[in-house]
Amino acid sequence: MNDAYAKLQKCYESIKSRIPFKPRVALVLGSGLGDYADTSIKVEATIPYQEINGFPISTVPGHKGQFVFGYVTDVPVVCMQGRVHYYEGYDVTDVVLPTRLMYLMGAEYLFLTNASGGINPDFWAGDLMMITDHISLFTPNPLIGPNIDELGTRFPDMSEVYNKRLQEIIREAGEELDVDLKEGVYAQLTGPSFESPAEIRMLKQLGVDAVGMSTVIEAIAANHCGMKVCGISCVCNMAAGISPNPLTHEEVQAAAAACAPVFKKLLSLIIVKMGVEP
Ligand code: HPA
Repeated sequence: MNDAYAKLQKCYESIKSRIPFKPRVALVLGSGLGDYADTSIKVEATIPYQEINGFPISTVPGHKGQFVFGYVTDVPVVCMQGRVHYYEGYDVTDVVLPTRLMYLMGAEYLFLTNASGGINPDFWAGDLMMITDHISLFTPNPLIGPNIDELGTRFPDMSEVYNKRLQEIIREAGEELDVDLKEGVYAQLTGPSFESPAEIRMLKQLGVDAVGMSTVIEAIAANHCGMKVCGISCVCNMAAGISPNPLTHEEVQAAAAACAPVFKKLLSLIIVKMGVEP
């Protein structure tokens, strides 16, 4: 059997009996949103990552590491409280292992959230941006290596990574809550250093609206195995060279925390709407 698939199966087997239900939505909580699981989910079970055999453990301050299973209203969700980042040194296949694990748990939808730097001049720090498409060219593709035929095809189509119906739902939810939701293209760079001003000018030329250090490789892996994907980014700062100030992780965390109350309301409404989709 394919090594990556064998590892995934081993992780799944080691927790299968502790999963309380088949989740409808898999939710990945980005910077500043970690406590969504504590405040907005009726928790049924948690599984700390370190209790999962072979699971990559996150080392970033401010990122907890566990799966939380619970209900948002009556929609069963599994939520990653803390994700795994490529810049921590993991193989890209390990970075997408949790995504694939949530697929094996039965989740149909993958809802990705993150923090980003804004490049589009119409954005402000504190804006929320629905991801409509991405540029993945700066990180290795998570599907490199022998294809896991059990999950998907060798050459998967990526013309609609961010599901159009989910985008409609997100827009509707934004309107109902009167959130000035921005939309745009997200690019993932490896990090952990922030970008240089010249890199930001390049990304702008390429049509990137916001830049961050996560999400795209997870979205590719989820699309490969047929999950319906959506994503919202919290634009925590204007990117290097646009903002006159040096960037710090602390500033990003503080901005993400300031955004969190509105972001959480939006997440819950979107998840409830996902729950009534046929
Ligand atoms: N660049 C990359 N990642 C980020 C940024 C940024 O400016 N802000 C928050 N995450």
